[in-house]
Amino acid sequence: MSVLSNLIGDFKTIYHLAKPVRGDTHQERLENFYSNQSQDYDRFRRRLLQGREELYQALANGEGNDGKIWIDFGGGTGANLESISDRLSGFGKIYIVDLSPSLLQVAQGRIADRGWTNVATVEADITQFVPPEGVADIVTFSYSLTMIPDWFAAIDQAEEILKPGGTIGVVDFYVSGKYPPPGWQRHSFFDRHFWPIWFATDNVFLCPNRLAYLHHKFDIVSLTERMGSLPFIPGLRVPYYRFIGRKREPQ
Ligand SMILES: C[S@@+](CC[C@H](N)C(=O)[O-])C[C@H]1O[C@@H](n2cnc3c(N)ncnc32)[C@H](O)[C@@H]1O
Repeated sequence: MSVLSNLIGDFKTIYHLAKPVRGDTHQERLENFYSNQSQDYDRFRRRLLQGREELYQALANGEGNDGKIWIDFGGGTGANLESISDRLSGFGKIYIVDLSPSLLQVAQGRIADRGWTNVATVEADITQFVPPEGVADIVTFSYSLTMIPDWFAAIDQAEEILKPGGTIGVVDFYVSGKYPPPGWQRHSFFDRHFWPIWFATDNVFLCPNRLAYLHHKFDIVSLTERMGSLPFIPGLRVPYYRFIGRKREPQ
């Protein structure tokens, strides 16, 4: 693609990020937001949604993944699977679950192009989804938890379908609390107040509570807190985290 068509795609995406999101239901609002940016989604989000490759590679590189069931909740275009394509064939099944038909269409094209026979898309609400196998070994949320109104239910659903000892991986934007737990980052007054307002325009809701709830529900394997850059806005950096947790064994 030429530099000019990339630039046009970027400005089209920025227009859709800035315009009001319309729709009566969550799915209608998601589709209203994504339908006109789905073709440029991957190129633009590569510069915005950081830490995704590190998370997926950390999960895919673990030993004993053969035959495992992985559910990518809010998996969108399936682009995150590109970074682990050399490991994909070992998994039993990978489900990309999403409510946006436009993004899933891109994912279906990718699956066909790459010949990923063990990857399937499912149009469904995360809070309701149970895989045909009934259970999963790995569940991921890449920048999707901040977009789910009922995110408590989404995390509960992930825990419900994970096998005991199963792994949850989350990467997402957030802001810290004013008094975070010991050892966690404390963001500045500006970061704690500016980023939630900025992202709320796109129905992306930043807060400290998702990370706190993940911490409450799962045993922590690792937590990484970083500041990421934004396309076209030099100087500003937005906080994001990568969380890997394990479902507790029944007592
Ligand atoms: C910012 S995008 C991230 C997509 C992809 N995971 C990535 O890293 O590029 C958030 C995704 O969550 C999906 N989503 C939001 N709420 C959902 C829900 N309740 N059920 C299923 N998917 C949902 C959106 O449609 C969208 O594809």
